[in-house]
Amino acid sequence: MKVEALILRPSWVEVDLDAVLDNLAQVRTLLAGKKLCAVVKADAYGLGAVPVSRALAQAGVDAFGVVMLDEAVQLRRAGIVTPILNMGEILTEHAGYAVEYDVQQMIYRPETAQALSIAAARLGKKAAVHFKINTGMGRYGCEYEHALETLQQCRRYPHLVFEGVMTHFPLSDAADKSFAQLQILRMKRLRRLFEENGLDIPCWHMCNSGGVLDLPQAHMDMVRCGLLLYGYYPSEDVQRPLTLKPAMTVKTHIIAIRELRRGDSVGYSRRFIARGPERVAVLPIGYADGYDRKMRFNGYTLLNGRKAPIISGLCMDACFIRISDFPQARIGDPVILMGQCGEEEISPHDIAHAIQSVSYEVMARFGKRLPRLYFRDGSRVETLHNGMQG
Ligand SMILES: Cc1ncc(COP(=O)(O)O)c(C=O)c1O
Repeated sequence: MKVEALILRPSWVEVDLDAVLDNLAQVRTLLAGKKLCAVVKADAYGLGAVPVSRALAQAGVDAFGVVMLDEAVQLRRAGIVTPILNMGEILTEHAGYAVEYDVQQMIYRPETAQALSIAAARLGKKAAVHFKINTGMGRYGCEYEHALETLQQCRRYPHLVFEGVMTHFPLSDAADKSFAQLQILRMKRLRRLFEENGLDIPCWHMCNSGGVLDLPQAHMDMVRCGLLLYGYYPSEDVQRPLTLKPAMTVKTHIIAIRELRRGDSVGYSRRFIARGPERVAVLPIGYADGYDRKMRFNGYTLLNGRKAPIISGLCMDACFIRISDFPQARIGDPVILMGQCGEEEISPHDIAHAIQSVSYEVMARFGKRLPRLYFRDGSRVETLHNGMQG
């Protein structure tokens, strides 16, 4: 039974699916026909994995990238039939789920290869895998010096199909590409070595958004792209050949207004004390929604297309902005925490700058307590809130 989403809190995330699709089309122009794996891990960086993946699947992306089986299962249960690559590690006892849900699993440990092969045999299937090599990220993958032996060990298990070989860049979006170049060299050498040893694996991939933009020589057979699809460049240092459209807006509304006299304070610890008459608006969104407490230092919001600074500390469910320069502001007025408002824009990078973080973290942290409203052709097409749909 479908339960209609009921949104009573005046704070939410708006997701522009047209922007996602437009960004996809633009990214594709850089790929010269290479495959594209859309990275939708972490709930599509906070946009919502299922609605975003549905839109991207319709547009024909070649695969989805997730980092845990739970994320893959969520997409399958939502009816997504596009190939899904689990780029994260699994426990061997969960190998059966990868096979059952047709998830292409990243592997590099022979133990995982064996567990997948046994599970596949039991289910009368083959387990598709991507062999991961550590060329410098140092997270998952076998050491590149031992890649051939490790691959040969993994290939001993009969119920596996080796679909791909992958590695990851820790620094593709930096101005200095020397480490990325070294990784590319390592991958290209390994590809030759594997081929010389009769190990032909069709789909090699290493690029994330930074690599998509700046390292066309590393596009190989497929790229794994997240942030660009959502409308943001990964850093200040990459080339900017696209007109990306930001897909995520975080919006709230003024829920209370305080007229302060000299000496009045707002918030815990009395961090803001008025030196004279001040006007302060209370916004019903706080750190429990993923809006960082460090926003109190340099953070600001947009009200009527102008900046309104955060003051005092953030509460779990509320924060304060100074609106002394906004005499017309009223309860119910919309306030943008991230996104565009008139000529002004607050990007995830701006928030990341204020809280000494990265745009990825900023986006992914806007939590599930915030409803998600999805727009296409200017109309709301879907709403998700507390597991309800509308
Ligand atoms: C293994 C892997 N590949 C690709 C990506 C996509 O990165 P980006 O969002 O920069 O395109 C990620 C995300 O961090 C990742 O972990």
